[in-house]
Amino acid sequence: MTTAPERTAPTARPSMAQVAGRLINGSVRRSYEPDVAIDWDAPLVEGKYFLPKEVISLYGTPYWEELTEEQRIALSREELANVLSVGLWFENILNRGLLLQLLREDPAGPFAHYVLTEMGDECRHMTMFGKVIDRVGARPYRMGRRDRFLAAALPHFLRGSLLWVGALIGEEIFDAQQRRIMADPDLQPVVAQLMRIHVIEEARHIKFAREGVVHRMQSASRLERVLVGNLAGLGGPVLKRALTNPGIYHRAGLDVDRAVREVRANTHHDEMAVIGFAPLAAFLEDNGLMGRVGRRLWRRNGFLP
Ligand SMILES: [Fe+2]
Ligand SMILES: [Fe+2]
Repeated sequence: MTTAPERTAPTARPSMAQVAGRLINGSVRRSYEPDVAIDWDAPLVEGKYFLPKEVISLYGTPYWEELTEEQRIALSREELANVLSVGLWFENILNRGLLLQLLREDPAGPFAHYVLTEMGDECRHMTMFGKVIDRVGARPYRMGRRDRFLAAALPHFLRGSLLWVGALIGEEIFDAQQRRIMADPDLQPVVAQLMRIHVIEEARHIKFAREGVVHRMQSASRLERVLVGNLAGLGGPVLKRALTNPGIYHRAGLDVDRAVREVRANTHHDEMAVIGFAPLAAFLEDNGLMGRVGRRLWRRNGFLP
């Protein structure tokens, strides 16, 4: 694909085609097939958590203090199954958004080829998430009919910078968390293996989406900036709702009303959300994509201090 030389860039920024070419090379060098990369036959380790304590929604509440070690581990298993289910929904939406994007792209160029590579990564991730949910003895959390309808419609609205920013909202916040927790020695080995694979492959996706945003912002209208910078804030309530799904506490055998009440007031949980969102918040800020309404939505849902 030939592109006109970029007029504005003071330092030569690689084109999206060049970025895509490098990411394809990286993918060839380092990709994982979870069927063989994860030791599926290894037994679960007695007494280990399925997510580290400090990222569990109830950690830091009076209710957490009353739970037995067994109840805490059971809750960590449900929170893992929930977060992987949310990951599955997100990757499904992203892949359909990317597939629609491909209709507008040159199928012979590296951009389209990297998009297809990324979609292939996500297909393997979705398989891996589903298998880990099963392996740890949990069941996936399923979308209700209304959410399924919204998830089916959403990819049609994910265009231009909204597609890239949407991808980053789904990828960066979890990525920041996974990087912090994957080396925890108290984590079940199968979960640590999943996170290592996911972090390595998502680093390429995040690079691609960030470059997509930066390129797009070089020519974006003020209207596009304002719209995307505020619509992105919807990520706050959507993630908050998905990650504190009352079904988690129900399946863990807890008092659902009490758990939901204490999670809502849990400042420790908000601190974890702020840490997870910080790199993306800084990136959105740098690119003029933190609108007034957007900022308020992120803050109200605990992602900004
Ligand atoms: Fe993924
Ligand atoms: Fe991804």
